[in-house]
Amino acid sequence: MSVITIDHVTKQFGDTVVLREFTDEFKEGEFITLLGPSGCGKTTMLRMIAGFEKPSSGEIRIDGDLVSSRDVLVPPEERGIGMVFQSYAVWPHMNVFDNVAYPLKIRKRPKEEIREKVERILEIVHLSRFAQRMPSELSGGQQQRVALGRALVAEPRVLLLDEPLSNLDAVLRERMRFEIKEIQKKLGINVVYVTHDQSEAMTMSDRVFVINSGIIQQVDSPVNIYRKPKNQFVADFVGKVNFLKGTSADGRIRLEGIEDILPYDGDVTGKVDVAIRPENLRIIGGEAHLHGKIVSEFFMGDVNDCRVQIGEKELRVISDASTYGKFGREETIGLEISDFLVFPDNGEDFDEILT
Ligand SMILES: Nc1ncnc2c1ncn2[C@@H]1O[C@H](COP(=O)(O)OP(=O)(O)OP(=O)(O)O)[C@@H](O)[C@H]1O
Ligand SMILES: [Mg+2]
Repeated sequence: MSVITIDHVTKQFGDTVVLREFTDEFKEGEFITLLGPSGCGKTTMLRMIAGFEKPSSGEIRIDGDLVSSRDVLVPPEERGIGMVFQSYAVWPHMNVFDNVAYPLKIRKRPKEEIREKVERILEIVHLSRFAQRMPSELSGGQQQRVALGRALVAEPRVLLLDEPLSNLDAVLRERMRFEIKEIQKKLGINVVYVTHDQSEAMTMSDRVFVINSGIIQQVDSPVNIYRKPKNQFVADFVGKVNFLKGTSADGRIRLEGIEDILPYDGDVTGKVDVAIRPENLRIIGGEAHLHGKIVSEFFMGDVNDCRVQIGEKELRVISDASTYGKFGREETIGLEISDFLVFPDNGEDFDEILT
């Protein structure tokens, strides 16, 4: 059963279209992530699901009930949703406990139930020690967790999260990712999660919607988004990639500015963009797909992160750590390619090295 149905939703502000033709069904218990660069329309979509913004056309249904269209707008508090906004707001005049308890208090739940639930949630968001603190006495990341706790406490069927971890340090952020995923599974709730951080999208989602300039580029599992990106934008936005221009014909690709010829048995012919992820390149001593010289290398512990000059191009290569320091700068090395993607040339120039 689908919990949220989005049917041909578009959004315009004045003459500017910020979302085009969003159609999908979010199934029961699904973790959906809207992923894309700043300004692509993620928050706008979330605000429409929440009921803070009307679509310019199309309809949104929750549990089969029409909640948003040009003429209908069911208010947020009647949608059974919990939310954490990008600019999270906690009540400044209430301590942490009361902030988290607020949604239960307005539902007039018994005192004992409120205490139990709030204490459990405070534990989940690692704020038990701060229950009596006022928001002004908390760091940004702690306030963000108060907002998350407040959204979770009423056990909503749908939880909308807009970059809820943006103010946390790296360690806490990873831990909270795990916690959010656990909570979602335990409570069996639907999550619509907005982020521009691809690793958040990869680790938590059942399906990822990659959006660019208001247009959905691909809807897929994290694995497929990474391994089978539909176009150059998705390949570039999710993970690291080297782009090379070339011409594909007769089972081979001639690369611009590079002498080596790539064997290719796929069906894209003519002008192409070849996308090679740095981790799909491996430095070896002798004969290989590509040949060049190491320009720089960085020992990262688990891998050797290098730049390799191949003809006129410089490629980023993430090779195994054992290759670090093994080859001189003047030495010709081989680069073995374990996997690459070929897209029809769309006329755009991509950066050769994306970090
Ligand atoms: N009320 C508004 N009036 C006019 N334009 C708006 C309004 N709200 C958002 N926009 C525009 O719509 C586009 C999408 O904005 P949105 O906030 O959805 O982006 P986003 O993907 O959430 O970006 P970020 O990652 O920076 O938060 C932007 O170009 C923004 O300037
Ligand atoms: Mg936003």
